[in-house]
Amino acid sequence: MKLPNLANARKRTKNPVEVITDNYKLTNDMKKLGLNRAYYIKTYGCQMNEHDTENIKAILEDMSFTETSKIEDADLILLNTCAIRENVHYKVFGFLGQLKSLKQQKPHVIIGLCGCMAQEEVVIEEILKKYSWLDIVFGTHNIHNLPNILERALAKKELEIEVFSNEGDIYENIPAKRESKYKAWVNIMYGCDKFCTYCIVPYTRGKQRSRLPEYIINEVKELVKEGYLEVTLLGQNVNAYGKDLDINYNMANLLEDVAKTGIKIVRFLTSHPWDFTDDMIEVIKNNSNIMPHIHLPLQSGSDKILKLMGRRYTKEDYIKLYNKLKENIPNCAITTDIIVGFPNESDEEFEDTLTLVDEAKFEAAFTFIYSPRKGTPAAKLEDHIGKETKSTRFQALVKRLEKHIEAHSDAMVGQVFDVLVDGVSKNDPNMYSGYTDENKLVHFRGDESLVGKIVKVKVHESHTYSMIGELVNG
Ligand code: 5AD
Ligand code: SF4
Repeated sequence: MKLPNLANARKRTKNPVEVITDNYKLTNDMKKLGLNRAYYIKTYGCQMNEHDTENIKAILEDMSFTETSKIEDADLILLNTCAIRENVHYKVFGFLGQLKSLKQQKPHVIIGLCGCMAQEEVVIEEILKKYSWLDIVFGTHNIHNLPNILERALAKKELEIEVFSNEGDIYENIPAKRESKYKAWVNIMYGCDKFCTYCIVPYTRGKQRSRLPEYIINEVKELVKEGYLEVTLLGQNVNAYGKDLDINYNMANLLEDVAKTGIKIVRFLTSHPWDFTDDMIEVIKNNSNIMPHIHLPLQSGSDKILKLMGRRYTKEDYIKLYNKLKENIPNCAITTDIIVGFPNESDEEFEDTLTLVDEAKFEAAFTFIYSPRKGTPAAKLEDHIGKETKSTRFQALVKRLEKHIEAHSDAMVGQVFDVLVDGVSKNDPNMYSGYTDENKLVHFRGDESLVGKIVKVKVHESHTYSMIGELVNG
C-alpha cells in the first residue's frame, strides 16, 4: 500500500525529470484480464482529467475490458475525481455510498477511485475508515501502472492503494482512446509550480514538467494523419511551457511548430496572466490556424485579494495584458475564471472584481465560490464572511458577467462563422452543433455527413451561452 503525503507533494527539488518511454508493458496474462468484463468510468473536473480518462480507457481496452455506459452491467467501476472544490468531494463520497449495496449484491465487481482526490490524505483516511470495501485507489502519477494495480487487486481481493506523492516523472507512449475522431486533447506539460494559495493542484499533480517538443509535435503529426482537425494543448499554465527544460524552447516556439504541422485548428489552455510573452502574441497573430481565444483566469479584481491568493499580478497588470491581446490579435475572445468569497474578501474588494468585469467584458467565464482545500495556505485563514454573503455576491457576479456575454452574443447575429461540426446538438436532436474560432457554441440544422467538417454558419439568433444559425455556402 502506497499512501499519499501532502508534505512530500509540496516539495520541489532541482532533480531532473525522467522521461520514461518503455514503462507501459503488458504481460499476456494482463492482456486477458479484462476478457468478458465491462468497465464503466465516470469523470469529474477539468480537461486534464478528461484526457487521463482517455488514457485509462485505452489501457483497460488493451487488457480486453470493454466499455459500458450502463453501470449495472459493469464488472469494473472507476471514478476519476477532481479535488479543486469541496462539492465534488461530497458528490464522490455520496456516489461511493450508493455503490456499497451494489458491491454487496455483486461482490465480484471491482470499484476504484483515481484522479486528484486520490492524492489527498483526508480522502484516503476517509476511505480507510468508512469505505474500505473499495478495491483500488490510484493517483495521478500511477495511471501507467494500472495493469499491475488491477492484477494485484484481483489476486488479493483486498483494498489496493497506490498513490505516489513525488514531484512526478513523464510517461510517454501511454495509449489513449480519444472521445472524438476530430478533436484531440494533447498534454504539453504536467503539474504546476505556481502554488496559488487556494489551490490544491500543485500538490495533486506535482511539479511543472514540460513534455519534450519532439513528443508533442509527433503526437500532433500522427493526429493529422489520422484525420484530426483540432488539437487543444493542455497544461495548468501553458505560458510557462519549456521553462523547466534545459533547451532554449518556449511556448511561442511550440505554438509555431504545432501550427506548422498542418492541423486545422490549434487551441490551448490555460494561460496564467503572469508569463504571457509578446512572442506568443506574435505567433498567435501570424498563424491563422491558432484560434483567437485566450483563457486568462483573473480570479479577483482586487489587488489585495490577488496578493493574498499569490497570483503575482495586479489588476493593472491584468488589464495591460488584456489590452495588448485585444489590440494585437484580431477578434480575440478572452475568457476567464473568477473566485468569489476568498477568506475575508470585503464588499469593496468584491466591487473591484465587478468593476474589472465591466472593463474587460469577458466573452465567457467560469465562476466559483471559494472552497477551502486542506493543506493549502488559504485554508488556514480564519474567514469572517458568511455563506449567504458569498452566495449573494456569486449571483451578482454571474448577472454582471452575463450582461456582457449577452452583448457579445447579440453582436454575432448576422455574421458568418467557421464551425467544426461536433455532432447532434445535446439539447435538440434535430440540430447539429459546434464551436466558432472564438469558442462560442452554435446550433444549426444539418445532417450526419457534416460531422467532422468545418462549415460556414450564419448566426440569426443569440442566447447567452449559445447561438442559433443556418448553414451557408462557403
Ligand atoms: N476554490 C474555488 N475555486 C477554485 N479554483 C481553484 N481552486 C479553487 C478553490 N479552492 C478555480 C480557479 C481556477 C479554476 C480551475 O478553479 O478559478 O482557475
Ligand atoms: Fe492552481 Fe494557480 Fe497552478 Fe492554476 S496556476 S493550477 S490556480 S496553483
